[in-house]
Amino acid sequence: MKHFNIETSIYFGEGSLEKLKELDNKKILIICDKFIGTSEILKKVQSNLEKCDVAVFDDIIPDPTIKVVAKGVQVLKSEKVDLIIALGGGSSIDGAKAIREYYTKIEKNAKIDFYAIPTTSGTGSEVTEYSVITNEQENIKYALADKKLLPSVAILDPELVKSVPKSITADTGMDVLTHAIEAYISKEASDFTDALAEKAFELTVKNLEKAYLNGGDLQAREKMHNASCLAGLAFNSAGLGLTHSLAHVIGGRFHIPHGKINAIILPHVVRYNSNIERESYLDSKSEVLKKYQKLAKIADLSAINPFMGTSNLINFIVKLQKSLLIPGTLKDLKIDGSSLLEDIDNVYENVLKDICTKTNPREITKEDIKKLIKSIVG
Ligand SMILES: NC(=O)c1ccc[n+]([C@@H]2O[C@H](COP(=O)([O-])OP(=O)(O)OC[C@H]3O[C@@H](n4cnc5c(N)ncnc54)[C@H](O)[C@@H]3O)[C@@H](O)[C@H]2O)c1
Ligand SMILES: [Zn+2]
Repeated sequence: MKHFNIETSIYFGEGSLEKLKELDNKKILIICDKFIGTSEILKKVQSNLEKCDVAVFDDIIPDPTIKVVAKGVQVLKSEKVDLIIALGGGSSIDGAKAIREYYTKIEKNAKIDFYAIPTTSGTGSEVTEYSVITNEQENIKYALADKKLLPSVAILDPELVKSVPKSITADTGMDVLTHAIEAYISKEASDFTDALAEKAFELTVKNLEKAYLNGGDLQAREKMHNASCLAGLAFNSAGLGLTHSLAHVIGGRFHIPHGKINAIILPHVVRYNSNIERESYLDSKSEVLKKYQKLAKIADLSAINPFMGTSNLINFIVKLQKSLLIPGTLKDLKIDGSSLLEDIDNVYENVLKDICTKTNPREITKEDIKKLIKSIVG
């Protein structure tokens, strides 16, 4: 028996922030980073909460650490709130999830509702039961996974993403693409998650470059915001894959933005999962190859057979990455990744331990990881 459901109520489109006006007489803590904390975005959100008592914790940092989460728990202890609103990119939403989770572990009777308002179109964290936290001592990112982390309400207002600069639009958009592709070929994919992943993929293919080239294109921004959420819904149920496990290990070590490192790794993992170099008749029947072919068709690429479809999909990802000015390797990013190869036993162990590896369609060996790392290091 399989199960699929969506627990978060989603409000979307222009003006959706007004949903907040329904809140009355609540004690609220907004959790965000310093950028949001000093921006017009926070003011806009606060102006919809006039009937409530609002405090702000704006100490979240990119890739939030255990230390930041502990600080947030202390703030919650003194504020005693009814509702947390996570406002920001995946870092703020994940940080808020972890803060609420650890606080309710200490204060067992505390009941704190949770809303998420994403200001980047990338992680889909507003509808996922995941929270990615960095262990600064071990220099690695861990994904916590628990239904209790799910927001009850997500608000997707495209006005809030208009200010996202080009390079963050590129990185976060490639994160959406990676979520859609990895959820689609996951071992746990289903008809329900496939529908979500296909739509997320299509919207991203049609709108990411537009949003990148013209940040003020509100329609492209709205489509990317929806795509991010749809991809989040898909992978929340289907899980992700090896691109994400590698991104957690490599991104955690070198502090590379999540979407950027995914973008670098993705074409290599698509090639690895397709096992395309074997090119046998048997492989053409592989579900993974057929699904890559389907994605190629959605992207209007030539895909007369699974091999051609997969090969064109890989070329398309690389082309998109280049047009968004995302480097192809760690070397291009001016990062010396040789320590990854020197430390391959540890890297392999951490990739195996990562929750995303469980749903990757192809098993991995240490040799496979070594080859992939070599291509990523450059
Ligand atoms: N929980 C999940 O399901 C999930 C999935 C994928 C990734 N993640 C995690 O999410 C984090 C990445 O999140 P992200 O990619 O959204 O980046 P982020 O939250 O770290 O934000 C990136 C930068 O963009 C800025 N920013 C945010 N909104 C902006 C706006 N509207 N205008 C201008 N600047 C803005 C932020 O201040 C920050 O400097 C990583 O830690 C990653 O591991 C979580
Ligand atoms: Zn991601």
